[in-house]
Amino acid sequence: LHCILILAGGNGKRLWPKSRLGRPKQFLSITHRQSMLQATVSRFAKFVPLQDIHVVTIQKYEHIVQDQLPFLSMSNVIIEPEGKDTAASIGLSAIRQLHRGRDPVMVTSPADAYVRNDEEFEKCIAIASEKAAKQDHIVTIGISPNKPETGFGYIQVIPGQNEFCYKVERFIEKPASDLARKFLTTGFHYWNSGIFVWKASTILGMIEKHLPILYDALIRMERGFGQESEHRVIAQEYKNLPQLSVDYGILEKADNVYMVPATFDWNDVGNWASLGEIGKEKDEKGNTVLGTGVGIDTHHCIIDGREIPIAAIGLENMIIVSTKDAILVCKKGREHEIKDIYELLLERG
Ligand code: GDD
Ligand code: MG
Repeated sequence: LHCILILAGGNGKRLWPKSRLGRPKQFLSITHRQSMLQATVSRFAKFVPLQDIHVVTIQKYEHIVQDQLPFLSMSNVIIEPEGKDTAASIGLSAIRQLHRGRDPVMVTSPADAYVRNDEEFEKCIAIASEKAAKQDHIVTIGISPNKPETGFGYIQVIPGQNEFCYKVERFIEKPASDLARKFLTTGFHYWNSGIFVWKASTILGMIEKHLPILYDALIRMERGFGQESEHRVIAQEYKNLPQLSVDYGILEKADNVYMVPATFDWNDVGNWASLGEIGKEKDEKGNTVLGTGVGIDTHHCIIDGREIPIAAIGLENMIIVSTKDAILVCKKGREHEIKDIYELLLERG
């Protein structure tokens, strides 16, 4: 028995101005006509029946999920009252399954990554699911790193065993840049794709062990399931939960972790620069142009003029993005500071 759980309640700050509080990254069409969420669901729907695909999101985005996935039954959309990061989303979803008397292998996936080669994707998921079904294992899918990116989790594997599924030595979420550089050169390190496979009972057991406060809250929420007071009970419990991702809360602490190395192409599309990496063709001057962007003497720029046409003259290594009501102009190499701009704008209202 399998179930796919797609996490779609984050607030993605790094793709401002396309991504806004009201419409974060997973709901945007960045690489394809489909949104990242729609593409994620389609990818799984190729080999999993729709009734086994679940999406967990926060109340604020419920209508967007319904709009984008009208074919998904509402009982497959799990709603959180507010965002407390992924440990809570996963815990709530797992306990809902167990409450129905099921203990499926859950494939938990972010809704905001680009994947190419769906066949290999399916194979990796199958290997991970088989491993997770057998015992109380956490199985992740790891990506070969090609730069010291600090926005990812790093997985250090124990070499020399089954090359399709390694035992994990250590999991380090979002390391400092000197550590990330070290991991890149020492080998045996992978990026965490954020795809985790486990039985519902396994992850709940890990939450009980490592996050007892969340566990107790989940048990109190479960008592409200099916009651008239359900929403109120869950909202009340959520209020007091700390913000915590499953990466910091569980993966860094667990010792029953395995990793399947990805044989598919993966890109987190976490910032504008990664648009230039995912095979979107560059023009003869090295520019990646989406929509209408014209340049004279303009080289190695990323230009997204899908909403308002952009004209550039004499520019090099710039990222320029227009939307109906905001424009980003950023030097390449400084796109990591976009989230600071975002905070700054928030402060100024
Ligand atoms: N329902 C719900 N509620 N979903 C959430 C919440 C929440 O409170 N917070 C985040 N999500 C969703 C996001 O929409 C995304 O699909 C997924 O969970 C991961 O959250 P991100 O906020 O995008 O995490 P990240 O990118 O910083 O880091 C994670 O992904 C990296 C790969 O992209 C970690 O797992 C890293 O270890 C990993 O390398
Ligand atoms: Mg992400």
